Amino acid sequence: MLRYSTRLFLTSGLLCVCSWAYTITPYVQEGLPSYTDVTTAPFLKIGTGFYYFENTTKNWFEAFASCRQMSAQLISFETVEEWSLIMDYRRTIKDTNRYWTSGTDLGSEGSHVWLATGKPMDINVWTVNNPDNYKNNEHCDELGWRPANSPTDGLNDVACSAKLRYICEASPPQTASFIIW
Ligand SMILES: *[C@@H]1O[C@H](CO)[C@@H](O)[C@H](O)[C@H]1NC(C)=O
Repeated sequence: MLRYSTRLFLTSGLLCVCSWAYTITPYVQEGLPSYTDVTTAPFLKIGTGFYYFENTTKNWFEAFASCRQMSAQLISFETVEEWSLIMDYRRTIKDTNRYWTSGTDLGSEGSHVWLATGKPMDINVWTVNNPDNYKNNEHCDELGWRPANSPTDGLNDVACSAKLRYICEASPPQTASFIIW
């Protein structure tokens, strides 16, 4: 907490010495206040998250590096709500593309984690019969895979060398301001 004091002198025949002190309190909040026109483009706000949908295709490692270059990370899903919001958004824009997520079991076969956060994958949004580690060669996780005869798409393990679109997730912006009183 900082304290400042200011003196105001008025010299028009008579001298007034007015003095007061005020407190400046720093204040940090999640997100952007409505009074700013700061843009988060090309990141799109969906729910409380910020996401970038890239349409050029890369293998999983290149996609991972590409998101890092944007100070972001390949998308991770902490909650089923986050998963549903992204799927709802894709349905709204009729997006049937496949995208890399940060999900992988490269570290330990069969234990899929969101590598961007280090968290174990504790929501079940896998498509039917997945992850199947097909031909012992599927260690990176994509979203948007639709198994034959399935009405919905979901998460699937695939070869990390596959070239896919990808979704980067940025940390939500924070707003720092000062309250002067
Ligand atoms: C990728 O394509 C979708 C439409 O399918 C569009 O909404 C999005 O902005 C595109 N992303 C980029 C980075 O151009």
